Amino acid sequence: MTNLTLTMGDITEQKADAVVNAANSSLLGGGGVDGAIHRRGGPGILEECKALRAADYAAGLPAGQAVATTAGRLPARWVIHTVGPVWSDTEDRSSTLASCYSESLRVADELGARTVAFPAISTGVYRWPLADAARIALSTVRAARTENVTEARFVLFGQEAHDVFAETLRALEQGAD
Ligand code: APR
Repeated sequence: MTNLTLTMGDITEQKADAVVNAANSSLLGGGGVDGAIHRRGGPGILEECKALRAADYAAGLPAGQAVATTAGRLPARWVIHTVGPVWSDTEDRSSTLASCYSESLRVADELGARTVAFPAISTGVYRWPLADAARIALSTVRAARTENVTEARFVLFGQEAHDVFAETLRALEQGAD
């Protein structure tokens, strides 16, 4: 059973076996979480991303999928790069966002990671409304069954995000009882 925790802070400072990156399909870096992870993690991460592109993902990593690289200088062993869907108010992309979490957990499990730190995928540049993203993220992780992962930690980058996730988690837990 994966224990689900919330914390407020910078995901690049998390001491976890695996840290999940809110990447884009190019895997070549960007802003937000992506920029912070590459900046603090160092060039080794980008080198492995380029190798992944050359080997398996010539057209880029599709949204909803996840791949692992070294964590470089981060206090973690792996970075799991996943590509969130861009928010659309005409198309329901919820299953793709859910897949980011379930696929990241599957990859983490295969690696033997015990602790996994997640950002609030798609809620920045990709404009997904925070409360809906929290509902999808938390319900997906709660439902996931893993062999090795014992902690899924959501790292929220500010008070508002943390409060929204905390409120959403409370509602999910009450609904489950
Ligand atoms: N630690 C934790 N959370 C962070 C950090 C950080 N250092 N920096 C930003 N965040 C939060 C944002 O506040 C937002 O809530 O992570 C969430 C995701 O925001 P983005 O990083 O913008 O990711 P996303 O919305 O999925 O957009 C991905 O942005 O940076 C580019 O290359 C990336 O093209 C991709 C797109």
